[in-house]
Amino acid sequence: MECERWVEEAARLFASARSLPEIEDLKARFLGRHGVVTEALRGLSELPLEERRAQGARINAAKREIEELLQGARRRLQEEALTKALAAEVVDVTLPGRRRGGGAAHPVMETIARVEAIFRALGFEVADGPEIEDDWHNFTALNTPADHPARSMHDTFYVADSEGMVLRTHTSPVQIRAMRAHVAVGGNETELRVVAPGRVYRVDSDATHSPMFHQVEGLWVGREVSFAHLKGVVTAFLTAFFAGEEVRVRFRPSFFPFTEPSAEIDVQFTEGESAGRWLEVAGCGMVHPQVLANGGFDPARVRGFAFGFGVDRLAMLRYRVSDLRLFFENDVRFLTQFE
Ligand code: DAH
Repeated sequence: MECERWVEEAARLFASARSLPEIEDLKARFLGRHGVVTEALRGLSELPLEERRAQGARINAAKREIEELLQGARRRLQEEALTKALAAEVVDVTLPGRRRGGGAAHPVMETIARVEAIFRALGFEVADGPEIEDDWHNFTALNTPADHPARSMHDTFYVADSEGMVLRTHTSPVQIRAMRAHVAVGGNETELRVVAPGRVYRVDSDATHSPMFHQVEGLWVGREVSFAHLKGVVTAFLTAFFAGEEVRVRFRPSFFPFTEPSAEIDVQFTEGESAGRWLEVAGCGMVHPQVLANGGFDPARVRGFAFGFGVDRLAMLRYRVSDLRLFFENDVRFLTQFE
């Protein structure tokens, strides 16, 4: 009988279908507007009443069966697709996780943080100043007038088309700024203790010089401040900074326009590659009375000492790095060693 053939054919075709679109095409062949089942139902009106009933029941039964077969085929293909997707996207939860790189402070920043912490413990505050500095703060106020030969000690970057602006050649201008800020709020009768770490610039470049480098300035102004205090503070700092290493400190007479007397600070390690060699790490001295006056203090009432350390030099010694430029090339193979 025709209806049974349709059902058999549908069962065979649905079973061999490989995709959902294919199923929908097959559905049209039987149940679509021009499908065999639909056409047959339409043809019923031409039959006499008795036959129409019996034939209609058969066709409708076949239609239901085909619809069920269709549902079954759809479900089968959906399940197959899901199984395939699950197999393709399988996640091995036993694999070790992929870690994000930890990230770490740059060794120079680490060094600055260490220097700040030690000086804070010694009662110093942390101050800063602009890297683009005016000539007065960078030179003149530090006792280095325009024609002073000491200016040639610094190979200065001048800011083009500016009136005497420079990239600061040292952190010493922060001495002036810190003193004036302190005096402005009536602090000229109280002690001032600051350190000022930061970037400085000079036209200079080789294994131990970079056009940009770091210094940390220190300044202590008070009534009874002496060179002995300077030695005590600097030695305490260096001992703490190089904790665990045996380090000797020496003060070697020198000249700076803004201090009198002036000295250079050398350190000597008893162990390691540089054992026995004296290495320069800072300049220092008793603040020149004129500099105290430029800072707004009365030099007849107070005295001060100051120092300026090369931060990169301290970092090189602490981390045993032989070429300063490594700090600024940002090669991750170098930097990750400090994580
Ligand atoms: N500013 C000096 C330099 O860059 C270093 C220095 C020397 C700083 C003596 C000081 C000091 O505070 O007292 O070479």
